[in-house]
Amino acid sequence: MLYPVKMTKILEFPKNFLWGSATSAHQVEGNNIHNDWWEAEQTGKIKHKSDRACDHYNRYEQDFDLAKKLNQNAHRFSIEWSRIEPKQGEFDQKEIEHYRNILLALKKRNIKSVVTLWHWTNPVWFAEKGGWANKKSSVYFERYVKVIVKELGDLIDFWVTLNEPMVHICNGYLRGNFPPFQKNIFKARKAFNNLIKAHQKSYRIIHTKYPEAKVSIAQLTNYFEPARKWCPLEIFLAKLFRYIWNYWFLEKIKKEVDYIGVDYYFHHRMIFYPWFIKNLNETTSDLGWEIYPKGIYYILKELHQKYQKPIYILENGVADIEDKLRKNFIENHLFWIHKAIQEGADVRGYFYWSLMSNFEWGRGFKPRFGLIKINHQTMERKPRPSAFYYAQICKENRLWFG
Ligand code: FCB
Repeated sequence: MLYPVKMTKILEFPKNFLWGSATSAHQVEGNNIHNDWWEAEQTGKIKHKSDRACDHYNRYEQDFDLAKKLNQNAHRFSIEWSRIEPKQGEFDQKEIEHYRNILLALKKRNIKSVVTLWHWTNPVWFAEKGGWANKKSSVYFERYVKVIVKELGDLIDFWVTLNEPMVHICNGYLRGNFPPFQKNIFKARKAFNNLIKAHQKSYRIIHTKYPEAKVSIAQLTNYFEPARKWCPLEIFLAKLFRYIWNYWFLEKIKKEVDYIGVDYYFHHRMIFYPWFIKNLNETTSDLGWEIYPKGIYYILKELHQKYQKPIYILENGVADIEDKLRKNFIENHLFWIHKAIQEGADVRGYFYWSLMSNFEWGRGFKPRFGLIKINHQTMERKPRPSAFYYAQICKENRLWFG
């Protein structure tokens, strides 16, 4: 009897590909006492507390040692604005020094830095002024960015001005489940415009000092498709959502980006009735999010066609406490990314979310996205088996698929 032979394909990635993972300050550092999320956690508006988070603020050397051991050559993290400027106009030199040390720690290990300037959290003083709905918000942000450019710019390899602005607008100003807990379409519109201005101003500031800098945002890009390919209404819905969610913001800043930064997690099959998303959910994460690796292929193809710029995948990951899905998750996403590259998309890097399991915003510590498992009592770190699988890919710059 003949058994089918399983074919393994070797998929090579482009030379100098960045292989890394991502974090954000509020989710890993711990004790970010000067920002609006922290405040909302203390007043109970957010049900969970970030507390010490992963204590990454004190343990970054150890964490970067692990990243290095896992063969990662790049790392995305965010600078916490509320540490740098805890009171309006007062910049904390000690905290600037802290981030300088972080950047130096990465350099020492030969790990490229991808620095997010704003990953959703705002200093309390800024939030009290109405946050991004305040017409001067981009002016305040600009001042902070100037300080970062001056003090840390020499050590930053890639810049991400804003993380997923549409999520902040949607959750903070329309759904009202993230700070500033508003449900106000007019404020949402103002925040949208001010975040655009904030990016544009930052872009100019960074480029004035560093003309060669690589600057962009991290855009949460979902794959929307009609549930029934023949249904004109569903085709329309998919196009509409794709435009609003994926492109509206990007289109406004497309002249001010040096690369496209993509975060990918979601697939939505748009259905007219029952209104309005119906996924097949054949495999889902611990959060019930559908795992749909092929979506990233469609997204990359479209982004390439539209913008013709280098693309970096700045986030992609899965909540999986038992580490049963992560290996396949990474393998399958990389398969489709590789296919998009072969067909012309200029993808230059992949950042798994997240280096370590952390504080997942309104959901607390329950969802475990990390390559590294954290015991939040003892703060012990332990790479999960999938971390070693990913490490092999990072080392070889190729994927054994099949
Ligand atoms: C993204 C966020 C990131 C993390 C992942 C799971 O939307 O940018 O901070 O929470 O989702």
